[in-house]
Amino acid sequence: MVKFDLLAGTAAPNASAPRDRVPRILVFDSGLGGLTVHGEIARITPSAELIYVADTEVFPYGQLAEDVLIARVRAVIAEAVKLTEPDIAVIACNTASTLVLPVLRSAFDIPFVGTVPAIKPACEQSLSKRISVLATPGTVMRDYTRELVAVHAQSCDVTLVGSTRLAGFAQDELFGAPASDADLIEELRPAFVEKGGARTDIVVLACTHYPLILHRLVALAPWPVTFIDSAPAIARRTAQLLGDVKEGPQLPARAFFTGSEAAPPPLRAALGTYGLSDIQTLKVSGG
Ligand code: DGL
Repeated sequence: MVKFDLLAGTAAPNASAPRDRVPRILVFDSGLGGLTVHGEIARITPSAELIYVADTEVFPYGQLAEDVLIARVRAVIAEAVKLTEPDIAVIACNTASTLVLPVLRSAFDIPFVGTVPAIKPACEQSLSKRISVLATPGTVMRDYTRELVAVHAQSCDVTLVGSTRLAGFAQDELFGAPASDADLIEELRPAFVEKGGARTDIVVLACTHYPLILHRLVALAPWPVTFIDSAPAIARRTAQLLGDVKEGPQLPARAFFTGSEAAPPPLRAALGTYGLSDIQTLKVSGG
């Protein structure tokens, strides 16, 4: 059985405790995919202070061994929490959330919100009862994901697709180097299944990178489907845990990247659309 509720946050510590400043939310991902969650959080909690942390030095996480991933995420979060003292952290990464959240919750004294494949709502919404989960290889292999399917998708035929390249392609798009249509179709195609007269009608985007290229996925889909992006649900859950957010002076969002390469102009422009112009390097020892 699944022993932890990744979306639930924790009853304690309390993210809605009174404070003398606007709440500070840390949003973490392996790379730039968490921006899709960051953007939704900024939209519904405009007066919160947002800190975006990307482990660009180690990206992608999709094929890392589980023990390596646990140690790395813990090390990055330890540095980020020490430096920025957030009130709440959002792990905007399915690959990490489906594995690391219990470790983070026991190691740090702040609430964590996770991001996990939206299998339950997908199965509920599907008319053809044929859904696909498009994710990293790590996410589709996790016990947690398999349990979600077993518990919440009994009435559906579920195809799990572990893409080795799609997160990189999504990230390349922000770097101003979009993948070709043919490359994207190769990653997308296995999520479209037609069997016994029924076609896939819902594709769960179970990697926060994929909504970055949603327009291309929609255009290249072999037939129309509903793509499910968890970002709005994650943002709502974060806002709920924060409770009433006190109005205060708008503090600019900051980004910390573990990699030391300078962001090229197209990436700076893309980050600017998320309100991120202050980009710093986060040094991580260990992990
Ligand atoms: N954005 C991450 C996720 O949601 C994964 C990308 C990667 O590092 O492979 O799973």
